[in-house]
Amino acid sequence: AAQDAAAGERVFAQCKACHQVGPNARNAVGPVLNGLFRRKTGMVEGFQYSAANKGADITWTEETFTEYIRNPREKIPGTKMVFAGVKDEQKIKDLIAYLHSFDEA
Ligand code: HEM
Repeated sequence: AAQDAAAGERVFAQCKACHQVGPNARNAVGPVLNGLFRRKTGMVEGFQYSAANKGADITWTEETFTEYIRNPREKIPGTKMVFAGVKDEQKIKDLIAYLHSFDEA
């Protein structure tokens, strides 16, 4: 199926414990996820990343994000993001569509 941002918002419910998006988003347990697909790992101003995430040197594209969110600790060993990941491919696609709605936020 196509990417569905509204469905992605429902998937994002499990990220919201730690991440904010939108114009008033602030760093929380995890960094703000606005503009994710135009930056490299560890670039959010004011967020205390682990050395692993900070130094991962990955550019966030749909492809690298998909690999990461499937299994965060495999893509970035030593990440302090305590989250098992999202295994369902459609849910990952929808999540990407939702995150793209904050490209300019
Ligand atoms: C880091 C996405 C769930 C806590 C990140 C990064 C992404 C991300 C893309 C890297 C950001 C960067 O390099 O700037 C997501 C998504 C989630 C999710 C899409 C839901 C599907 C969670 C949850 C928690 C969490 C539930 C808390 C229990 C963190 C933390 C970091 C992080 C602490 C920084 C890791 C480090 O510095 O090692 N997340 N996350 N995330 N996330 Fe998440």
